[in-house]
Amino acid sequence: MLYKAVRPLLFACDAEVSHEVTLWTLKKLGQFGFFNHAKPLSQHPVTCFNLTFANPLGLAAGLDKNADCIPAWSAMGFGFVEVGTVTPKPQLGNPKPRLFRLANHSAIINRMGFNNKGVDYLVSRLQQMQATCPIGVNIGKNKDTELNNAWQDYVTCYQKVYPFADYVTVNISSPNTPELRKLQQGDLLKSILVPLKHEQRLLAEKYHKAVPILVKIAPDLTDDELFTLLDDLLALQIEGIIASNTTIERPAYLKSPQRDEVGGLSGEPLFERSTRMIQTIYQRVGESLPIVAAGGIMSSKQANAKLAAGAKLIQIYSGLIYQGPGLVKEIISQLPTN
Ligand SMILES: Cc1cc2nc3c(=O)[nH]c(=O)nc-3n(C[C@H](O)[C@H](O)[C@H](O)COP(=O)(O)O)c2cc1C
Repeated sequence: MLYKAVRPLLFACDAEVSHEVTLWTLKKLGQFGFFNHAKPLSQHPVTCFNLTFANPLGLAAGLDKNADCIPAWSAMGFGFVEVGTVTPKPQLGNPKPRLFRLANHSAIINRMGFNNKGVDYLVSRLQQMQATCPIGVNIGKNKDTELNNAWQDYVTCYQKVYPFADYVTVNISSPNTPELRKLQQGDLLKSILVPLKHEQRLLAEKYHKAVPILVKIAPDLTDDELFTLLDDLLALQIEGIIASNTTIERPAYLKSPQRDEVGGLSGEPLFERSTRMIQTIYQRVGESLPIVAAGGIMSSKQANAKLAAGAKLIQIYSGLIYQGPGLVKEIISQLPTN
C-alpha cells in the first residue's frame, strides 16, 4: 500500500538517486530500532547447505552492497539476505549514469561495476548487527586486480567475512567488471575455487563452522560451457550455484530507448532465459548441487515456476524495485505446500 503511494515519487527521480535515498532511509530507520523484533516470515522452512531458512525467498546481491540495511530486509519477511558484491578495497564503480529503468518492461539495466565500501566496512556492519536470518556475502575482485591474481581478492574477502557469513557467493558473472566472466571457465575457474576450498578447510577448523561456497553464474553461457562448469563445480565440491546474474543479451521485443545502454539486463525479460537455465542445471545435476534461482521473479507464479524448475531457494531484486515489499509477502503466502 505505502509503496504504491511512494513509487511514483521514486520513479520520477534518477534511478540511482532513488536507490540511495531508499537505502539511506532504511539504514536510518534500522539505527533508530524501527525494525527491532521483526522476524522473517516463517511459513515455509527450508534446509539447504546445512542451513535452515524460515522461507526460501531471499534478497539478491547488489541491492545492499555494504550490508547497511539487513534489519529492514528481515522485517520485510525475507528468509535470507545476500549482501555485496564486496571487494577487498573500496571502489567507486563505473561513471554515472549507470542505472536505468525500462519501466514498460519491468526491467533494469545496470553497469554499476562493484561500487562498494570494501570488505572491512562490510565486516564492521555485520559485527554490529544481530541477524535474524541467514546472511550470504557475495564477493568479487577489484577492477584493477589482474585476472591471474583474482584468487587473492576472493580469498581475502572469504577470510574476512568467514566468521560473520552463513554462506559466501563467488561472483564471477557480473558483466560490468572487464573480463570477470572469463573466470567461469577452465584453469581460471580452478585458480579461484581450489584456493577457496583449501581456505574453507582451514577456517572450518579454526571457527568450528563450515561456511558453504556458492558460485553465481551468467545466463549467457552456452549449454556446453554450462556443462563443463557444472562438472568442475561438482568435482571441486562447491556447495551450491546461483542462476543467474544479469544478461548482456537484449531480447528483440525490448522497445525502451534505454535498451542499448551497456550493462546487465534484469527483471521480467530475464525470466524465461534464467528459468530455462535452472531446468538445464537440474536435469544435469539433480539434487547434488542445490540451485538458488534469481532472474525476473515479478510474481508468486514466477517464484513457484523457479521452484518447479528445480530451485531450492529463490531471490529477487528487480521485482522489489517495481512492486515493493508487498511482493515478498505475496510470494511467501503463495508458496506450494509440501
Ligand atoms: C542495480 C543492480 C545491481 C546488481 N549488483 C549485483 C552485484 O553487485 N552482485 C551480484 O552478484 N549481482 C548483482 N546484481 C544481479 C542481481 O543480484 C540478480 O542476479 C539479477 O538482477 C537478476 O534478478 P532480478 O531479475 O530479480 O533482478 C545486480 C542487479 C541490479 C539490477
